[in-house]
Amino acid sequence: MDIELTHVLKKYQNKVVVDIEKATFKSGKVYGVIGENGAGKTTLLKMIAGLEPYERGSIYYNGKCLEQTDLRRVTYLSQTPYMMQMSVYNNIAYPLKIRGFTDAQINSSVNAILDELQMDALANQMATQLSGGESQKVALARALVFNPEVLLLDEPTASIDQNTIKVIESTIAKRNREMHMTVITISHDRDQINRMCEEIVTMERGKSNVYSRHNHGE
Ligand SMILES: Nc1ncnc2c1ncn2[C@@H]1O[C@H](COP(=O)(O)OP(=O)(O)OP(=O)(O)O)[C@@H](O)[C@H]1O
Ligand SMILES: [Mg+2]
Repeated sequence: MDIELTHVLKKYQNKVVVDIEKATFKSGKVYGVIGENGAGKTTLLKMIAGLEPYERGSIYYNGKCLEQTDLRRVTYLSQTPYMMQMSVYNNIAYPLKIRGFTDAQINSSVNAILDELQMDALANQMATQLSGGESQKVALARALVFNPEVLLLDEPTASIDQNTIKVIESTIAKRNREMHMTVITISHDRDQINRMCEEIVTMERGKSNVYSRHNHGE
């Protein structure tokens, strides 16, 4: 789905943290959000996910406002993922359970994503006892398991080893290519942004600028 922000202003107490005149995220593209600590990147993604209110302006999803949109098609992966006190398998199965999928459907979807992210060995482990990087992978699996239309990633590979980063990047690229999943990912790793994203969003003290890498000769 296309996402369009117009005159969006967000404050915490009296401090303006996001102030965007206009920004458009086109369906099926991969966007990389870059900017310094505190620039407003996380706040931007949370607003798009409908998790954070704002003072004025609008965000439209295929021309519709939040209330008219099925936000289950949009998923936000936090910088600090939360693991439920249950096995890895059940953490990943959870979004399907609450959506009423059958056990057989759940089983095949969860096993497929465990396999894709090369984490079958973790299936029966208690999710609350995972390492930081393992938790991030489980959170990604939980986000991807119901095939979201829009995937919002907040520094998804911040504490992930090099090999696993490759697996994660290729999983995301595959979903984008085959299912036209729109991706907006925050990263401090410029090389990663260049590998994954055609479009760059720079954030500077709450202001954004969206541009296409190809028009800048990079
Ligand atoms: N719940 C909150 N209450 C008050 N201020 C907040 C809150 N969340 C964020 N802020 C402030 O809003 C600004 C933007 O925060 P945000 O988390 O969006 O930055 P960021 O660009 O994601 O930074 P980082 O790269 O460190 O993750 C920061 O100055 C932060 O202190
Ligand atoms: Mg952040």
